[in-house]
Amino acid sequence: MYNSKITGLGYYVPDNVVTNDDLSKVMDTNDEWIRERTGIEERRHIIKGEDTTTSMGVKAAKIAIERSGIDKNDIDFIVFATLSPDYYFPGPGVLVQRDLGIGTVGALDVRNQCSGFVYGISVADQYIKSGMYKNILVIGSEVHSTGLDMSTRGRGVSVIFGDGAGAAILSREEDTAKGILSTHLHSEGQHAEELALIAPGMGKRWVTDIIDEKDPNDESYFPYMNGQFVFKNAVVRFSEVIKEGLAKNNLEATDINMLVPHQANLRIAQFIQKKFGLEDEQVYNNIMKYGNTTAASIPIALTEAWEQGKVKEGDLVVLAAFGSGFTWGSAIIKW
Ligand code: UT7
Repeated sequence: MYNSKITGLGYYVPDNVVTNDDLSKVMDTNDEWIRERTGIEERRHIIKGEDTTTSMGVKAAKIAIERSGIDKNDIDFIVFATLSPDYYFPGPGVLVQRDLGIGTVGALDVRNQCSGFVYGISVADQYIKSGMYKNILVIGSEVHSTGLDMSTRGRGVSVIFGDGAGAAILSREEDTAKGILSTHLHSEGQHAEELALIAPGMGKRWVTDIIDEKDPNDESYFPYMNGQFVFKNAVVRFSEVIKEGLAKNNLEATDINMLVPHQANLRIAQFIQKKFGLEDEQVYNNIMKYGNTTAASIPIALTEAWEQGKVKEGDLVVLAAFGSGFTWGSAIIKW
């Protein structure tokens, strides 16, 4: 038996900073509302033509590979989590394989939106635990800015999301007391449409609709979120899935050194912090700078926490996410 261990981390965000005041120039919103309700002060938007979900993922991956000390050709498998792929198909996993210039290793695309990175490392962890692979590249990357409704109609969603990418190398760890101890995944499709982008799809809003209809009042091409309903579910599921992970490993909340929650809303993170009795320095938040970057939010936050020396050898690190699907999950890691 093996465990997997995170041996390298990296992130990349575009240079283009978009402040709350910038948004208030294009829609009816204001800095006070956004800060109070979400904690967000600014986010990054790509410059169109300069970056894509894949290119940002590749930039983050290169840093993670270098820090892990492996050669890129030692990567056995790629897992790419995103809700904003460059193409409808193929997914960005194969584009990373091409752009990194590595051999014909498998490349898996993971959906699962805000939980995508936790799902991704769970998949990678199983492959490593089974002995099938030794080094797996897991990426979470998103471009939201090109798909948001930037009119007042879309303000409940568009002020929240930002662009960016994070990546991790998971490598085989022979000491099973170290590394990823367990992962816990859940879904509840009953609420699929409460946080969703309905079109284009092959279900209700076909791709040909885009070409044929061009209806300016059709909102199905923009992300929709029933904010309060999602919020209420998020606080419950975050708590449950963290408790589940701790219980599985006979641990208590007092054993946690660092919680890295998906950056959905600062108020959600603060609620969870209070619920588990954690100090400010035991929860890493950066939603203030980047907004909600869905699948990228945990690897960006984890990389920053690690860079700042807040995640150290021997620490108990908990990752937790909740989002569209609904899907949610946690990872319990002995660093
Ligand atoms: O990452 C995936 C998981 N996502 C989450 O967990 C997000 C969960 N939900 C939330 O974080 C919050 O529900 C939001 C931040 C999205 C919204 O905050 P809220 O406190 O639930 O506000 P609300 O949607 O109830 O809207 C309150 C008011 C409304 O006006 P009325 O109807 O009271 O007149 C909105 O129209 O705020 C208005 N509003 C805005 N005003 C200024 C909505 N968006 C904006 C805006 N600027 N950007």
